[in-house]
Amino acid sequence: MDPVRNPYQPGAGRRPPELAGRDDVLTAFDVLLQRAELAGGERGRVLYGLRGVGKTVLLNTFRSMALQRLWGTGKLEARPDQSIRRPVAAALHMAVRELAPRHRAPDRVDAFLGVLKAFALRDPKAPKGSSVTAQFGIDVPATRGRADSGDLEVDLTELFADAASVAGDLGVGIALFVDEMQDVPAADVSALCAACHELSQVGGPLIVVGAGLPHLPSVLSASKSYSERLFRYTRIDRLDRDAADQALIAPAEREDVIFKQEALDALYEAADGYPYFVQAYGKVTWDVAAASPVTAADVAVAAPEAEGELAVGFFGSRYERATPAEREYMRAMAAIGDEPVPTSIVAEELGRKPSSLSPARDGLIKKGLIYSSERGLIAFTVPHFGNFLRSQPA
Ligand SMILES: Nc1ncnc2c1ncn2[C@@H]1O[C@H](COP(=O)(O)OP(=O)(O)O)[C@@H](O)[C@H]1O
Ligand SMILES: [Mg+2]
Repeated sequence: MDPVRNPYQPGAGRRPPELAGRDDVLTAFDVLLQRAELAGGERGRVLYGLRGVGKTVLLNTFRSMALQRLWGTGKLEARPDQSIRRPVAAALHMAVRELAPRHRAPDRVDAFLGVLKAFALRDPKAPKGSSVTAQFGIDVPATRGRADSGDLEVDLTELFADAASVAGDLGVGIALFVDEMQDVPAADVSALCAACHELSQVGGPLIVVGAGLPHLPSVLSASKSYSERLFRYTRIDRLDRDAADQALIAPAEREDVIFKQEALDALYEAADGYPYFVQAYGKVTWDVAAASPVTAADVAVAAPEAEGELAVGFFGSRYERATPAEREYMRAMAAIGDEPVPTSIVAEELGRKPSSLSPARDGLIKKGLIYSSERGLIAFTVPHFGNFLRSQPA
Protein backbone atom coordinates (compact mmCIF):
# COMPACT_ATOMS: atom_id res chain seq x y z
CA MET A 1 0.00 0.00 0.00
CA ASP A 2 1.02 3.61 -0.43
CA PRO A 3 4.19 4.07 1.65
CA VAL A 4 3.50 7.78 1.83
CA ARG A 5 0.33 7.08 3.79
CA ASN A 6 2.04 4.54 6.06
CA PRO A 7 1.01 5.65 9.57
CA TYR A 8 3.36 3.52 11.71
CA GLN A 9 6.29 5.14 13.46
CA PRO A 10 9.08 2.92 14.75
CA GLY A 11 11.75 5.09 16.37
CA ALA A 12 12.89 6.21 19.80
CA GLY A 13 10.48 8.73 21.26
CA ARG A 14 8.45 8.90 18.04
CA ARG A 15 4.88 9.83 18.67
CA PRO A 16 2.80 6.79 17.74
CA PRO A 17 -0.21 7.23 15.46
CA GLU A 18 -2.31 5.75 18.27
CA LEU A 19 -1.18 5.82 21.89
CA ALA A 20 -2.78 2.52 22.77
CA GLY A 21 -3.34 0.96 26.17
CA ARG A 22 -2.14 3.88 28.27
CA ASP A 23 -5.43 5.48 29.32
CA ASP A 24 -4.91 4.70 32.99
CA VAL A 25 -1.47 6.25 33.03
CA LEU A 26 -2.73 9.36 31.28
CA THR A 27 -5.72 9.74 33.57
CA ALA A 28 -3.50 9.41 36.62
CA PHE A 29 -1.25 12.14 35.32
CA ASP A 30 -4.19 14.42 34.69
CA VAL A 31 -5.29 13.88 38.28
CA LEU A 32 -1.78 14.70 39.43
CA LEU A 33 -1.80 18.01 37.56
CA GLN A 34 -5.14 19.02 39.00
CA ARG A 35 -4.21 17.97 42.52
CA ALA A 36 -0.93 19.84 42.30
CA GLU A 37 -2.78 23.00 41.31
CA LEU A 38 -5.24 22.65 44.15
CA ALA A 39 -2.86 21.57 46.87
CA GLY A 40 0.17 23.50 45.69
CA GLY A 41 2.26 20.40 45.16
CA GLU A 42 2.16 16.66 44.63
CA ARG A 43 4.40 13.64 44.62
CA GLY A 44 6.51 13.15 41.54
CA ARG A 45 6.10 10.27 39.14
CA VAL A 46 8.54 7.67 37.91
CA LEU A 47 7.92 5.48 34.88
CA TYR A 48 10.14 2.46 34.49
CA GLY A 49 10.41 -0.38 32.04
CA LEU A 50 12.38 -2.01 29.26
CA ARG A 51 13.52 -0.17 26.16
CA GLY A 52 10.92 0.37 23.50
CA VAL A 53 7.82 0.15 25.71
CA GLY A 54 6.93 3.82 25.23
CA LYS A 55 8.32 5.67 28.26
CA THR A 56 9.69 8.62 26.32
CA VAL A 57 6.47 8.91 24.35
CA LEU A 58 4.56 9.05 27.64
CA LEU A 59 6.85 11.74 29.04
CA ASN A 60 6.27 13.80 25.91
CA THR A 61 2.52 13.26 26.19
CA PHE A 62 2.60 14.28 29.86
CA ARG A 63 4.44 17.38 28.82
CA SER A 64 1.73 18.30 26.32
CA MET A 65 -0.90 17.72 28.98
CA ALA A 66 0.92 20.02 31.38
CA LEU A 67 1.30 22.67 28.69
CA GLN A 68 -2.39 22.46 27.99
CA ARG A 69 -3.07 23.31 31.60
CA LEU A 70 -0.72 26.27 31.07
CA TRP A 71 2.06 24.84 33.21
CA GLY A 72 5.70 25.61 32.58
CA THR A 73 7.57 22.54 31.40
CA GLY A 74 11.14 21.50 30.75
CA LYS A 75 12.81 18.24 29.90
CA LEU A 76 16.26 16.77 30.07
CA GLU A 77 17.82 13.48 29.12
CA ALA A 78 20.35 12.33 31.70
CA ARG A 79 23.75 11.05 30.59
CA PRO A 80 26.19 9.01 32.60
CA ASP A 81 29.04 11.12 33.98
CA GLN A 82 27.24 14.36 33.28
CA SER A 83 26.09 16.53 36.14
CA ILE A 84 22.45 17.52 35.88
CA ARG A 85 23.19 21.08 36.96
CA ARG A 86 23.23 22.61 33.50
CA PRO A 87 20.52 20.43 31.98
CA VAL A 88 18.23 21.24 34.92
CA ALA A 89 19.03 24.93 34.50
CA ALA A 90 18.19 24.77 30.80
CA ALA A 91 14.97 22.86 31.44
CA LEU A 92 13.76 25.26 34.15
CA HIS A 93 14.70 28.19 31.99
CA MET A 94 12.47 26.80 29.29
CA ALA A 95 9.68 26.23 31.80
CA VAL A 96 9.78 29.75 33.16
CA ARG A 97 10.00 31.23 29.70
CA GLU A 98 6.72 29.55 28.95
CA LEU A 99 5.17 31.25 31.96
CA ALA A 100 6.81 34.66 31.65
CA PRO A 101 4.47 36.25 29.06
CA ARG A 102 1.49 35.64 31.34
CA HIS A 103 3.19 36.74 34.53
CA ARG A 104 2.00 40.09 35.85
CA ALA A 105 5.17 40.86 37.78
CA PRO A 106 8.08 40.77 35.33
CA ASP A 107 10.51 41.63 38.13
CA ARG A 108 9.63 38.32 39.86
CA VAL A 109 10.53 36.48 36.69
CA ASP A 110 13.75 38.45 36.32
CA ALA A 111 14.67 37.73 39.92
CA PHE A 112 14.24 34.03 39.24
CA LEU A 113 16.32 34.24 36.08
CA GLY A 114 19.11 35.89 38.05
CA VAL A 115 19.08 32.99 40.50
CA LEU A 116 18.92 30.49 37.67
CA LYS A 117 21.93 32.04 36.01
CA ALA A 118 23.93 31.93 39.23
CA PHE A 119 22.92 28.29 39.63
CA ALA A 120 24.08 27.41 36.11
CA LEU A 121 27.34 29.26 36.57
CA ARG A 122 28.26 27.07 39.53
CA ASP A 123 28.83 24.17 37.17
CA PRO A 124 32.56 23.46 37.66
CA LYS A 125 32.82 22.47 34.00
CA ALA A 126 31.02 25.55 32.77
CA PRO A 127 32.86 27.86 30.42
CA LYS A 128 33.04 31.50 31.47
CA GLY A 129 29.99 33.55 32.34
CA SER A 130 29.42 35.08 28.95
CA SER A 131 28.61 31.72 27.42
CA VAL A 132 25.87 31.07 29.96
CA THR A 133 24.30 34.24 28.65
CA ALA A 134 24.84 33.03 25.13
CA GLN A 135 23.61 29.51 25.79
CA PHE A 136 20.50 30.41 27.72
CA GLY A 137 19.96 33.92 26.51
CA ILE A 138 19.58 35.13 30.10
CA ASP A 139 20.50 38.77 29.99
CA VAL A 140 19.63 39.40 33.62
CA PRO A 141 22.75 39.57 35.82
CA ALA A 142 23.41 36.56 38.04
CA THR A 143 22.19 37.02 41.60
CA ARG A 144 24.45 36.25 44.55
CA GLY A 145 23.69 34.14 47.56
CA ARG A 146 20.93 31.89 46.33
CA ALA A 147 21.23 28.52 44.55
CA ASP A 148 24.90 29.22 43.98
CA SER A 149 26.63 27.53 46.94
CA GLY A 150 28.14 24.84 44.74
CA ASP A 151 26.42 22.15 46.79
CA LEU A 152 23.91 20.73 44.35
CA GLU A 153 21.48 19.64 47.03
CA VAL A 154 21.26 23.07 48.58
CA ASP A 155 21.20 24.80 45.22
CA LEU A 156 18.50 22.59 43.71
CA THR A 157 16.36 23.01 46.81
CA GLU A 158 16.50 26.78 46.50
CA LEU A 159 16.07 26.78 42.76
CA PHE A 160 13.06 24.47 42.88
CA ALA A 161 11.42 26.56 45.59
CA ASP A 162 11.88 29.75 43.56
CA ALA A 163 10.67 28.19 40.32
CA ALA A 164 7.62 26.75 42.06
CA SER A 165 6.82 30.10 43.55
CA VAL A 166 6.91 31.86 40.16
CA ALA A 167 4.49 29.24 38.80
CA GLY A 168 2.37 29.46 41.93
CA ASP A 169 1.80 33.17 41.24
CA LEU A 170 -0.12 32.06 38.15
CA GLY A 171 -2.01 29.25 39.88
CA VAL A 172 -0.17 26.67 37.80
CA GLY A 173 2.90 24.50 38.31
CA ILE A 174 6.17 23.46 36.75
CA ALA A 175 6.81 19.97 35.48
CA LEU A 176 10.42 18.90 35.12
CA PHE A 177 10.84 15.76 33.02
CA VAL A 178 13.95 13.61 33.38
CA ASP A 179 14.36 10.88 30.79
CA GLU A 180 16.93 8.07 31.19
CA MET A 181 16.89 8.94 34.88
CA GLN A 182 18.95 5.86 35.78
CA ASP A 183 21.90 7.66 34.15
CA VAL A 184 21.86 10.61 36.55
CA PRO A 185 25.19 10.36 38.44
CA ALA A 186 24.79 8.97 41.98
CA ALA A 187 25.63 12.22 43.78
CA ASP A 188 23.13 14.11 41.65
CA VAL A 189 20.36 11.55 42.20
CA SER A 190 20.80 12.02 45.89
CA ALA A 191 20.71 15.81 45.55
CA LEU A 192 17.64 15.64 43.32
CA CYS A 193 15.76 13.40 45.77
CA ALA A 194 16.73 15.60 48.70
CA ALA A 195 15.52 18.71 46.86
CA CYS A 196 12.19 17.04 46.04
CA HIS A 197 11.88 15.91 49.63
CA GLU A 198 12.49 19.41 50.89
CA LEU A 199 10.02 20.88 48.42
CA SER A 200 7.38 18.35 49.42
CA GLN A 201 7.65 19.59 53.00
CA VAL A 202 7.33 23.28 52.28
CA GLY A 203 4.88 22.65 49.44
CA GLY A 204 5.31 24.07 45.99
CA PRO A 205 3.90 23.18 42.60
CA LEU A 206 7.03 21.75 41.01
CA ILE A 207 6.77 18.13 39.95
CA VAL A 208 9.65 15.93 38.88
CA VAL A 209 8.62 13.22 36.45
CA GLY A 210 11.27 10.63 35.65
CA ALA A 211 11.49 7.74 33.24
CA GLY A 212 14.09 5.03 33.00
CA LEU A 213 15.07 1.40 32.90
CA PRO A 214 13.57 -1.27 35.17
CA HIS A 215 16.16 -0.79 37.89
CA LEU A 216 15.40 2.93 38.28
CA PRO A 217 13.29 2.41 41.42
CA SER A 218 16.17 0.57 43.10
CA VAL A 219 18.63 3.26 41.99
CA LEU A 220 16.44 5.85 43.70
CA SER A 221 15.83 3.89 46.88
CA ALA A 222 19.51 3.03 47.19
CA SER A 223 20.18 6.75 47.05
CA LYS A 224 17.55 7.88 49.56
CA SER A 225 15.42 5.47 51.49
CA TYR A 226 12.52 7.95 51.52
CA SER A 227 12.44 8.06 47.71
CA GLU A 228 9.82 5.33 47.82
CA ARG A 229 7.44 7.86 49.32
CA LEU A 230 8.72 10.72 47.21
CA PHE A 231 7.56 9.34 43.88
CA ARG A 232 4.73 7.24 42.64
CA TYR A 233 6.13 4.43 40.52
CA THR A 234 4.45 3.06 37.45
CA ARG A 235 5.78 0.13 35.51
CA ILE A 236 5.35 0.56 31.76
CA ASP A 237 5.09 -2.79 30.10
CA ARG A 238 4.23 -4.39 26.80
CA LEU A 239 0.73 -3.85 25.45
CA ASP A 240 -1.91 -6.48 26.03
CA ARG A 241 -3.54 -8.09 23.04
CA ASP A 242 -6.39 -5.59 22.74
CA ALA A 243 -4.12 -2.58 23.03
CA ALA A 244 -1.61 -3.99 20.55
CA ASP A 245 -4.42 -4.61 18.06
CA GLN A 246 -5.75 -1.13 18.67
CA ALA A 247 -2.30 0.36 18.00
CA LEU A 248 -2.44 -1.22 14.54
CA ILE A 249 -6.13 -0.98 13.70
CA ALA A 250 -6.94 2.61 14.67
CA PRO A 251 -4.36 4.34 12.44
CA ALA A 252 -5.17 1.98 9.54
CA GLU A 253 -8.88 2.67 9.83
CA ARG A 254 -8.22 6.34 9.29
CA GLU A 255 -6.74 5.33 5.92
CA ASP A 256 -9.62 2.95 5.13
CA VAL A 257 -7.42 -0.09 5.65
CA ILE A 258 -8.43 -3.11 7.70
CA PHE A 259 -6.59 -6.19 8.97
CA LYS A 260 -7.83 -9.75 8.74
CA GLN A 261 -7.96 -11.42 12.14
CA GLU A 262 -5.24 -13.88 11.05
CA ALA A 263 -2.98 -10.92 10.20
CA LEU A 264 -3.48 -9.46 13.68
CA ASP A 265 -2.70 -12.87 15.18
CA ALA A 266 0.53 -13.09 13.23
CA LEU A 267 1.51 -9.53 14.11
CA TYR A 268 0.90 -10.09 17.80
CA GLU A 269 2.96 -13.25 17.65
CA ALA A 270 5.83 -11.35 16.04
CA ALA A 271 5.72 -8.11 18.05
CA ASP A 272 4.86 -9.74 21.37
CA GLY A 273 3.07 -6.56 22.43
CA TYR A 274 6.21 -4.43 22.57
CA PRO A 275 5.25 -1.00 21.23
CA TYR A 276 8.47 -0.54 19.27
CA PHE A 277 7.98 -3.89 17.58
CA VAL A 278 4.30 -3.20 16.93
CA GLN A 279 5.34 -0.11 14.98
CA ALA A 280 8.23 -1.86 13.23
CA TYR A 281 6.21 -4.87 12.03
CA GLY A 282 3.19 -2.71 11.27
CA LYS A 283 5.24 -0.42 9.10
CA VAL A 284 6.81 -3.10 6.91
CA THR A 285 3.56 -5.04 6.67
CA TRP A 286 1.81 -1.95 5.36
CA ASP A 287 4.44 -1.43 2.67
CA VAL A 288 4.37 -5.10 1.66
CA ALA A 289 0.58 -5.49 1.49
CA ALA A 290 -0.92 -4.88 -1.94
CA ALA A 291 -4.33 -3.83 -0.68
CA SER A 292 -6.77 -3.90 2.21
CA PRO A 293 -7.55 -6.19 3.97
CA VAL A 294 -4.05 -7.01 5.19
CA THR A 295 -3.55 -10.81 5.38
CA ALA A 296 -1.37 -13.22 7.32
CA ALA A 297 0.51 -13.85 4.07
CA ASP A 298 1.45 -10.15 3.98
CA VAL A 299 2.76 -10.42 7.53
CA ALA A 300 4.74 -13.55 6.62
CA VAL A 301 6.46 -11.68 3.79
CA ALA A 302 7.03 -8.58 5.93
CA ALA A 303 8.36 -10.28 9.06
CA PRO A 304 11.88 -11.17 7.86
CA GLU A 305 12.32 -7.68 6.48
CA ALA A 306 11.12 -6.10 9.73
CA GLU A 307 13.45 -8.37 11.67
CA GLY A 308 16.30 -7.27 9.43
CA GLU A 309 15.53 -3.64 10.15
CA LEU A 310 15.31 -4.28 13.88
CA ALA A 311 18.58 -6.21 13.79
CA VAL A 312 20.31 -3.14 12.43
CA GLY A 313 18.47 -0.24 14.05
CA PHE A 314 17.17 -1.52 17.36
CA PHE A 315 19.50 -4.35 18.36
CA GLY A 316 22.63 -3.82 16.28
CA SER A 317 23.12 -0.18 17.16
CA ARG A 318 23.17 -1.17 20.84
CA TYR A 319 25.28 -4.28 20.39
CA GLU A 320 27.91 -2.20 18.64
CA ARG A 321 28.40 -0.07 21.73
CA ALA A 322 29.72 -3.06 23.64
CA THR A 323 33.39 -4.04 23.84
CA PRO A 324 34.45 -7.57 22.83
CA ALA A 325 34.50 -8.68 26.48
CA GLU A 326 31.04 -7.20 27.03
CA ARG A 327 29.71 -8.95 23.93
CA GLU A 328 31.05 -12.24 25.16
CA TYR A 329 29.28 -11.63 28.45
CA MET A 330 25.97 -10.91 26.74
CA ARG A 331 26.29 -13.96 24.53
CA ALA A 332 26.73 -16.09 27.62
CA MET A 333 23.60 -14.53 29.11
CA ALA A 334 21.70 -15.24 25.90
CA ALA A 335 22.92 -18.83 25.82
CA ILE A 336 21.48 -19.39 29.29
CA GLY A 337 18.02 -18.15 28.38
CA ASP A 338 15.65 -15.22 28.51
CA GLU A 339 14.88 -15.10 32.22
CA PRO A 340 16.89 -12.86 34.58
CA VAL A 341 19.98 -14.80 35.61
CA PRO A 342 22.38 -14.72 38.58
CA THR A 343 25.82 -13.41 37.64
CA SER A 344 27.39 -16.56 39.10
CA ILE A 345 25.66 -18.65 36.44
CA VAL A 346 26.99 -16.38 33.69
CA ALA A 347 30.48 -16.86 35.11
CA GLU A 348 29.95 -20.60 35.14
CA GLU A 349 28.79 -20.53 31.53
CA LEU A 350 31.99 -18.70 30.60
CA GLY A 351 34.16 -20.87 32.85
CA ARG A 352 35.48 -17.79 34.61
CA LYS A 353 35.65 -16.36 38.11
CA PRO A 354 32.73 -14.00 38.77
CA SER A 355 35.10 -11.26 39.97
CA SER A 356 36.99 -11.28 36.67
CA LEU A 357 33.73 -10.50 34.90
CA SER A 358 32.70 -7.48 36.97
CA PRO A 359 34.21 -4.94 34.55
CA ALA A 360 32.19 -6.37 31.65
CA ARG A 361 29.02 -6.50 33.72
CA ASP A 362 29.48 -2.98 35.08
CA GLY A 363 30.28 -1.68 31.61
CA LEU A 364 27.08 -3.18 30.24
CA ILE A 365 25.01 -1.72 33.06
CA LYS A 366 26.53 1.69 32.46
CA LYS A 367 25.80 1.43 28.75
CA GLY A 368 22.22 0.55 29.61
CA LEU A 369 22.31 -2.82 27.86
CA ILE A 370 21.66 -4.91 30.95
CA TYR A 371 20.31 -4.09 34.37
CA SER A 372 20.56 -5.67 37.72
CA SER A 373 17.27 -6.28 39.44
CA GLU A 374 16.86 -6.08 43.19
CA ARG A 375 17.38 -9.78 43.69
CA GLY A 376 20.89 -9.60 42.26
CA LEU A 377 19.88 -11.03 38.93
CA ILE A 378 20.82 -9.49 35.63
CA ALA A 379 18.72 -9.20 32.50
CA PHE A 380 18.70 -7.43 29.15
CA THR A 381 17.11 -3.98 29.02
CA VAL A 382 16.13 -4.58 25.40
CA PRO A 383 13.24 -6.99 24.82
CA HIS A 384 14.07 -10.02 22.63
CA PHE A 385 17.77 -9.19 22.85
CA GLY A 386 18.65 -12.77 23.76
CA ASN A 387 16.90 -13.96 20.63
CA PHE A 388 18.81 -11.48 18.52
CA LEU A 389 22.16 -12.57 19.98
CA ARG A 390 21.41 -16.25 19.47
CA SER A 391 20.61 -15.59 15.82
CA GLN A 392 23.91 -13.78 15.21
CA PRO A 393 26.94 -15.72 14.03
CA ALA A 394 29.63 -15.76 16.73
N1 LIG B 1 1.13 3.12 23.64
C1 LIG B 1 1.72 2.94 22.45
N2 LIG B 1 1.02 2.44 21.40
C2 LIG B 1 1.61 2.29 20.21
N3 LIG B 1 2.89 2.57 19.95
C3 LIG B 1 3.64 3.07 20.94
C4 LIG B 1 3.10 3.28 22.24
N4 LIG B 1 4.06 3.77 23.03
C5 LIG B 1 5.17 3.87 22.27
N5 LIG B 1 4.93 3.45 21.01
C6 LIG B 1 5.96 3.38 19.96
O1 LIG B 1 7.01 2.58 20.47
C7 LIG B 1 8.28 3.09 20.08
C8 LIG B 1 9.16 3.28 21.30
O2 LIG B 1 8.68 4.32 22.14
P1 LIG B 1 9.65 5.06 23.17
O3 LIG B 1 8.82 6.05 23.90
O4 LIG B 1 10.88 5.55 22.47
O5 LIG B 1 10.05 3.86 24.16
P2 LIG B 1 11.07 3.90 25.41
O6 LIG B 1 11.31 5.32 25.76
O7 LIG B 1 10.37 3.13 26.48
O8 LIG B 1 12.31 3.19 24.93
C9 LIG B 1 8.00 4.34 19.26
O9 LIG B 1 8.08 4.01 17.90
C10 LIG B 1 6.57 4.72 19.61
O10 LIG B 1 5.91 5.32 18.53
MG1 LIG C 1 13.09 6.37 25.90
